[in-house]
Amino acid sequence: MQRRISLIPQPQQLTAADGDLDLSLLSAIAAAPELNPLAWLLSDALGRGTGLRLPVVQSTAKDPVEGRVLRLSLAGDRPEDFTTAAEAYRLDVTPSGVDLTAAHPAGIARGIATLRQLLPADALREAPAADPVVPLVRITDEPRLRWRGVMLDVVRHFQPKDFVLKMIDRAWLHRLNVVHLHLTDDQGWRFEVPSRPKLTEIGSWRAETKVGHARDEPAGYEPTPHGGFFSVSDLREIASYARERHIMIVPEVNLPGHARAVLAAYPELGAGQNKPVCPTFGVFEEVLEPTQAALDFALEAYTAIAEVFDGPFIHIGGDEVPMTQWESSPIARELMEREGMEDVRGVQAWFTRAFCEHLATMGKRVIGWDEILDGGAPAEAAVQVWRTQAYVEKALEAGHEVLVSPQTHVYFDHYESEDPSEPLRIHGLTPIEKVAAWDPAPAGVDESRILGAQCQLWSEYLPNPRDVEYAAFPRLAVFAEVAWTNVDVREADPVLDRLGVHLERLHAMGIGYRPLEGPKPWQQGGTGRYRRFDFQFTEPEVE
Ligand code: ACM
Repeated sequence: MQRRISLIPQPQQLTAADGDLDLSLLSAIAAAPELNPLAWLLSDALGRGTGLRLPVVQSTAKDPVEGRVLRLSLAGDRPEDFTTAAEAYRLDVTPSGVDLTAAHPAGIARGIATLRQLLPADALREAPAADPVVPLVRITDEPRLRWRGVMLDVVRHFQPKDFVLKMIDRAWLHRLNVVHLHLTDDQGWRFEVPSRPKLTEIGSWRAETKVGHARDEPAGYEPTPHGGFFSVSDLREIASYARERHIMIVPEVNLPGHARAVLAAYPELGAGQNKPVCPTFGVFEEVLEPTQAALDFALEAYTAIAEVFDGPFIHIGGDEVPMTQWESSPIARELMEREGMEDVRGVQAWFTRAFCEHLATMGKRVIGWDEILDGGAPAEAAVQVWRTQAYVEKALEAGHEVLVSPQTHVYFDHYESEDPSEPLRIHGLTPIEKVAAWDPAPAGVDESRILGAQCQLWSEYLPNPRDVEYAAFPRLAVFAEVAWTNVDVREADPVLDRLGVHLERLHAMGIGYRPLEGPKPWQQGGTGRYRRFDFQFTEPEVE
């Protein structure tokens, strides 16, 4: 039997009372002026799913709207942006109305997400399909972690803008607060930089794509071009859509490695190679040469993206940068001599330092994958750890704040089960139970230096939005709880027991999620290019 109240993430405190409130008995959404945009978003969501059209009226502490309303209010000292206190809220549903209160608009945004989950699952549809009824309840809530993110890889396979907007909405409904966009890599450059037109003319598409797994040698290439990019106006729309929902977009421009698309467009920035945008997947040796021209290019790209997205962080990538080209490059050797570097990894550190200094002048903080630690990075750079827990410790010891996103637990491009019918994935095994059991900041780790946690949706083997949905859901919901809810609250009511109701929500939203019992026939890999491919994958060593 379904429980009356079943939310994901589980709020920190919830007290239910008997009875329901029919929102159609309310006269309006009464909102503080600053909350007007959120009030209209809520009104719109209610209207679409239930047909209830509540007007938004302005209400202030001095001049409150009286009567039975859905009230959105700001109260108390305003916390700094991007703190857990900024996302705290209280939600009271009583026979006389709904009161949603927070000290910061971000808290109201999170409370709206909870209120939408209190409605029947069918209220999440795009046209009226449910009554606007919610149970009587009092919720007091605040996230455990500051950064609760999901990464979309729009490079390996381009994901269209409307899907990115949908994923922002889904992040919102799960009370996540970060969508990280992986925008550049060997297989494509996915955003317009007006001063560098070849990035999109040449770098945003590839002529062919490897069929099957990159390690499955005999499979060959599909000679159908693949590509796409976001114009500056597209990026502005994405930024604005996320801002309305108090979601931070963290754009990633991955340099100085993973540079094949850049070098296809501007070969003079590399070591003279003349290779096309990469048609297959893996780690490739082409990197930017450490020249002033390459640095100028990189800073121009960072400036372009930092001007669009107003959040505090820019992601510089920095993962999997092979040293091979620099080891034999006279330009790199000359730089090493000039700067007194003993280790060639200092060349990556030279780029990292320059990126940090430049972005700091724009008021931005840098975050990079944990490889930025290998040659050293300025302490104010945050480190996103993807390899092993040992890098969490290494980063903390070096004075960095850490975003934890280990491939062992939150790479949702990994297989979900041992079932041979699972569709082609990169490797790995991350069943939903493993996500549910995960603690991103276990005892012994200084939680005050943990920025948060993030799940990843790399798209080498997720060619279409439906494939991304299958990989993401419902693991993303469980991840959202792990990142939001304190461990004692999680243990008192395991998230896996609440998934049944949640799957009805995902279904109502039209999400092609993976059923808990395994893929539907049309979600299986079959016997063709999407068939499961297993090989021995070895975890990288920690230095
Ligand atoms: C990564 O998975 N290479 C960050």
